[in-house]
Amino acid sequence: MPDLYNQQYTTFKQNPAQFWLEQSKSIPWYKTPKQAYTKDNDGLYHWFSDGQLNTSFLALDQHIIAGFGEQTALIYDSPVTNTKQIYTYNQLQHEVAKFAGVMKSYGVQKGDRVVIYMPMIPQAVIGMLACARLGAIHSVVFGGFAAHELAVRIDDAKPKLILSASCGVEVDSIIEYKPLIDNAIELANHKINHCIIYQREQVTATMVKMRDIDWTHAMQTTQAADPIPVNGDDPLYILYTSGTTGTPKGVVRENGGHAVAMNYSMKTVYGMEPGEVFWAASDIGWVVGHSYIVYAPLMYRCATVLYEGKPVRTPDASAFWRVVEEYKVSALFSAPTAFRAIKKEDPNAEGFKKYNTSSLKRLFLAGERLDPPTYQWLQEKTQLPVLDHWWQTETGWAIACNPVGIETLTTKPGSSTVPTPGFDVRILDMDGNECAANEQGAVVIKLPLPPGCLPTIWQDTARFKASYLSEYEGYYLSGDGGYIDEDGYLFIMGRTDDVINVAGHRLSTGEMEEIVAAHPAVAECAVFGVNDPLKGQLPMGMIVLKNDFTGSSQEVEKALVASVRNQIGAIACLKNIVSVERLPKTRSGKILRKNLRQLIDGDELQIPSTIDDASIFEEINQQLTMR
Ligand code: COA
Ligand code: AMP
Repeated sequence: MPDLYNQQYTTFKQNPAQFWLEQSKSIPWYKTPKQAYTKDNDGLYHWFSDGQLNTSFLALDQHIIAGFGEQTALIYDSPVTNTKQIYTYNQLQHEVAKFAGVMKSYGVQKGDRVVIYMPMIPQAVIGMLACARLGAIHSVVFGGFAAHELAVRIDDAKPKLILSASCGVEVDSIIEYKPLIDNAIELANHKINHCIIYQREQVTATMVKMRDIDWTHAMQTTQAADPIPVNGDDPLYILYTSGTTGTPKGVVRENGGHAVAMNYSMKTVYGMEPGEVFWAASDIGWVVGHSYIVYAPLMYRCATVLYEGKPVRTPDASAFWRVVEEYKVSALFSAPTAFRAIKKEDPNAEGFKKYNTSSLKRLFLAGERLDPPTYQWLQEKTQLPVLDHWWQTETGWAIACNPVGIETLTTKPGSSTVPTPGFDVRILDMDGNECAANEQGAVVIKLPLPPGCLPTIWQDTARFKASYLSEYEGYYLSGDGGYIDEDGYLFIMGRTDDVINVAGHRLSTGEMEEIVAAHPAVAECAVFGVNDPLKGQLPMGMIVLKNDFTGSSQEVEKALVASVRNQIGAIACLKNIVSVERLPKTRSGKILRKNLRQLIDGDELQIPSTIDDASIFEEINQQLTMR
């Protein structure tokens, strides 16, 4: 049997530049790139810098020109508002071109930033594509983030415009966005001249005179704008993600590499054909939403589903299967936590049996480790290939996958299968030596990263280098630990830094600690991730109160939970903060967060020899049982 994956992987490794120049031919450029990658004066890699293209043209106009204008492009399904709406490529292009005209009339030009803080409605997708059309750089902020987080992003991206809607709709609550935006603008140093607000029927936002513009009204009087050519290395978007400190990192994505990578991945990673229906059940605020709700399916001429609902409670645990039947979805991609939620409510998968899901060829999972019980349950109940794949906001697409578009490999529970062609994945030990098969180490990627991955952090190349490039020269440090087995299969075992993964959402414990530590009664604190059967991980906090504090420790704990929720947002899920007498530390004063996690999870304590006083764990245990 031909070993097609190995052949393609070897072709890439022998000559990455040639491999990607070949792939770049599959998209239409205004100016064809002659060079694959270049290294700039800062030593950063950029792909297809000498090419010119437009991402909105690739996602819309090219298909219309090719005669597919009446094909379905976007399927909006919103169980929380009982709304369904279908846009053909013609209709979506019409809306995008008009909205680009609106932004243009407010002065948005190539290179300007636009912050998009929106719920899962078609206008969010239209806003993103309209930015791409003008060569403007969007920065989508997840709707679950609070005003403070939005303000931090506004100050970093310095947008010319904010796009938003009057509200988001959760299962049993309506989140008014406008007060959050007004508050964020108040908190931010960067001044905003205009916000364009889409008024949803659930809430009518109060508009600020001269600053706020009604979306629908503006669309009535505008002129459509054409796509403008941008360079391959011009940024398409900035997406902020959690790092180890309180300041989020602005991951930059450039147009050329992104388009080539998205196109390549639709076939290689997802085995899709143009014309099929692709559904990434995520949110446009996350990287999965950028890549696989918006850009990749549209550039590849698939129909994409924009689902404003949850896997459960909208109205029940069969919601996913209902959508699959209704729109004949070929591939469904979500996070393991979504399926754990379904499994919890419908352990026998009765919902799956209720619907005709014969269109569904494969299930894809990512965002967190796919635990073997969830993998086995899904496989047994659906009888479908269940494919784990590993990636990060930084890469924008799968670093490791089962490359079904090339060759379907046997899956192994707990493994995201093999490195995707383009990613030269290695496992290194602390001294930078390559680990033997099955030996755990730091998962790194040999430079240059393939097209589509971040070239740098927005306005902070020093941080990019310090975070990713300085640990091992010539390699990108993923921040994950793991191993490669004797068959070349990659196993990702979890983060080696202070980043945690809560329900597939990436959060920084460092950021939560900064908020907790700011309380006047707190002497010191630690926030760390503990196991949770549904969400994978949940943050937990331990605080030591100042000696002279005489108030109620429970009041402080409650105030801190509220403060994290107010500053980061409900999505932070830090609901458990306990005060203890002291925290375990090394002799040099470093808090042993890893040991605290082990203690709470009931794992074996791997206490370092540098610990100050090991009896402290027994002491904390006693304090916790007495609560
Ligand atoms: N806007 C405002 N608030 C939001 C929000 C949004 N877009 N998304 C979530 N929240 C709020 C929720 O309402 C909840 O608030 P609460 O504490 O008042 O109840 C809080 O943030 C936590 O949300 P979540 O972690 O999503 O928990 P949940 O109980 O509502 O749902 C799951 C649990 C498992 C169903 C849900 O997390 C899920 O569908 N996960 C899939 C993850 C995913 O798609 N990840 C993307 C990577 S692929
Ligand atoms: P994000 O940037 O939010 O996509 O989160 C990226 C992080 O999620 C990675 O660094 C991993 O820790 C984790 N992750 C994503 N996909 C997987 C996977 N398939 N298996 C294990 N961990 C994963």
